Amino acid sequence: MRGLLNLAIATAATFITTSLSAPIVVNPGGIKDLEITYHNTVNSTAATKEGGISISTAIKEDGISILDTADPLKISLVNNFEGGQMYAYVTGQDPSGAIVMLSTDGSWHFPDPLGSVIPIAINASVALPLGATGQTTELTLPDYLSSGRVWIAEGTLSFFTVAGADGKATLVEPSSANPSDPSAAINWGFVELTNTKEAGIFANISFVDFVGLVVGMTLTLGSGETQTVKGLAKGAIESICNDLKTQAASDGQPWDDMCVLDTEGNPLRIQSPNLYIANNPSAMEDYYNDYIEQVWSKYANEDLIINTQTDAGNVACRTTDSRISCDGDNREYPKPTTADIWGCNSGPFAIHADDNAIHKAVVPRLCAAFTRTTLLTDGGNTQPGLARNSYYQSSPTNHYSRIVHSYETDGRGYAFSYDDVNPDNENEAGVVSGVNPTVLELHVGGFSS
Ligand SMILES: *[C@@H]1O[C@H](CO)[C@@H](O)[C@H](O)[C@H]1NC(C)=O
Ligand SMILES: *[C@@H]1O[C@H](CO)[C@@H](O)[C@H](O)[C@H]1NC(C)=O
Ligand SMILES: *[C@@H]1O[C@H](CO)[C@@H](O)[C@H](O)[C@H]1NC(C)=O
Repeated sequence: MRGLLNLAIATAATFITTSLSAPIVVNPGGIKDLEITYHNTVNSTAATKEGGISISTAIKEDGISILDTADPLKISLVNNFEGGQMYAYVTGQDPSGAIVMLSTDGSWHFPDPLGSVIPIAINASVALPLGATGQTTELTLPDYLSSGRVWIAEGTLSFFTVAGADGKATLVEPSSANPSDPSAAINWGFVELTNTKEAGIFANISFVDFVGLVVGMTLTLGSGETQTVKGLAKGAIESICNDLKTQAASDGQPWDDMCVLDTEGNPLRIQSPNLYIANNPSAMEDYYNDYIEQVWSKYANEDLIINTQTDAGNVACRTTDSRISCDGDNREYPKPTTADIWGCNSGPFAIHADDNAIHKAVVPRLCAAFTRTTLLTDGGNTQPGLARNSYYQSSPTNHYSRIVHSYETDGRGYAFSYDDVNPDNENEAGVVSGVNPTVLELHVGGFSS
């Protein structure tokens, strides 16, 4: 009787899970379907001249460049993707803060909505065709670039521009969060980069929001030094979706629904839990609750040591009823919710500009410890401390991060925003950086070997 009852409950639970959850299938729309958010925009910060012409544009029009780009950055695109015609797009802000896209003629295009508060499609020549599979295409950036992305797509993408509240131009980019985005049915991915004269280049591959078209990268610096982040293995999207399905079957959580399908039902991209819950706010709301309670009771009676990896060294933290406080910190932290842990930027993890150095060091380390669920593991009372093979071993954990990392050829590539928190000799983040960069080589579709 008891066995039967359990079976009935199990069946009911399965039924509820499957009936509530639904796979996301792309359904590309038009301008009215655009979602304009922090994640898919770059805003111009350039001073505007009277008449709405940005200073940068004026410089270009006068044909005078005040910028010293004696050693322009080359982007070399190695096409290892087996599919249709590939295109690259380069977006970001130039040194004046104006939004830019690289044109096929090698100059910046400055998108200008001409004051329109309705988004306007950018129809300039900004789709940069790649050579066929096996070929390498070279681009040269005309200037330094901030908040930059190099987009790679099988087919063409749609970019828009719109006037912000301050009248300055906003660049609206394809969105991985919006299944009705005009570019939703296209297979695309990007590498993020900032390259300034003073600080040099920082480029990363990131799966913080989603997993899309696979790209790996090698940076060469003027010194001759090279750095490589191989990124995901070829075919990783399908494998990750399969593993998410297996995880969903084992814990009843909607991991499989984070997999976004094309109109034929094939996996196209994968949303991170943070992105997924933005559209499904009631999903997995209580996921980490028991874990959070256990962490709170453990560290009421013993120190949680945060190694700030700065001059401040180790600081001791203790929990009270609903807060955690750390020695030398300017303020306490409220207990996180599950959503706070997915995003690492709300609740206890929201950083204020006037927070002190200890607070700014604790936030990433505490969120990384929750994401990787190492706080109850032996040795987890020092963070960071445990080696990467201890990450994601408890239940619950962030199975998206666990599975994404398992398909990274060299284990590197941000699977949540603080994957750059590591014990001193390890690195889970997919970053290359340095001064005087000469070539950023992107392996589209993954490294061939
Ligand atoms: C750009 O501005 C829009 C509002 O015009 C805002 O919604 C968006 O978050 C801003 N993007 C960034 C990256 O700050
Ligand atoms: C770009 O679109 C505008 C309308 O938004 C049109 O007037 C213009 O001719 C188009 N330019 C090109 C090069 O297609
Ligand atoms: C990746 O690099 C860009 C540009 O340097 C930066 O804005 C972004 O925060 C980085 N992403 C992560 C997850 O660190």
